[in-house]
Amino acid sequence: MSTELVQTIAEIRHRLESIRSSHQIIGLVPTMGALHAGHESLIQQARKEADCLVVSIFVNPLQFGPKEDYTRYPRMPEADLDFCRRLDVDLIFAPEVEEMYPTPSLTSVEVARMTDHLCGPFRPGHFSGVATVVAKLFHIIQPQRAYFGEKDAQQLRVIERMVSDLNLAVTVVAVPTVRESDGLAVSSRNQYLSPEERRSAPILYRALQAAQQAIAEGVLDCGEARKRALAVLEQDQSVKVEYLEIVDPEEMQPVEQITGPVRVAGAIRIGAIRLIDNLLIAP
Ligand code: PAF
Repeated sequence: MSTELVQTIAEIRHRLESIRSSHQIIGLVPTMGALHAGHESLIQQARKEADCLVVSIFVNPLQFGPKEDYTRYPRMPEADLDFCRRLDVDLIFAPEVEEMYPTPSLTSVEVARMTDHLCGPFRPGHFSGVATVVAKLFHIIQPQRAYFGEKDAQQLRVIERMVSDLNLAVTVVAVPTVRESDGLAVSSRNQYLSPEERRSAPILYRALQAAQQAIAEGVLDCGEARKRALAVLEQDQSVKVEYLEIVDPEEMQPVEQITGPVRVAGAIRIGAIRLIDNLLIAP
């Protein structure tokens, strides 16, 4: 089957009817386009596990705050189509905003508690926007398997929790973060870094590694491990730290003493670009 582009909900439902009735596995990789090596690893894993592979491409206005980069978010439909063709994707679902939200949505999905920290306070409404659009995509496509990157660890947990709380019949598959050779996590926003900013950007990963190293050396106090990570970030004056937290990997709540696995997660700004990253650390 060659890659086909579908833009309406009625059409994608129609295309998937016979696939579902013949008990084939539908895999979904939800994206906002501007596809890169991170998406490639999601798609490759999904390709191995699904009979019919759907990639959704939709820049979801609900998950952007009023001062965020919704209008500037990269859109490259032709390149994305070639990308999906090369990776043997069966169907691209790329609806317009009017198709997904013909009327302003009065219904939203909120996943409480695990959005209280990390990106939550800095991006009010973001996770509700993500959970709402992913719930809609799950209902439209009805995949048995859906693939999300660990780079967005908080998003991943929000979706996993939504799926379990709402008994959605989909298995969420977590795919490891893809990094550039200098450790920078691959992201659609990296392309907007100037050459100088790009040179600074791997500092976030180095900071996370400093916390990891401290824990490996036996530091159990999260305050101390955080301090080591922040010391790395302070070395570059062009970097503004939004947060650097150590949380439990299940509910994303701050941890004081390390007694089990933790996630160290950070967000920084370099110029106008916001970068996030995280590492799972099992002491
Ligand atoms: O991670 C993303 O690209 C988006 O948040 C997602 C999951 C496609 C929802 O719009």
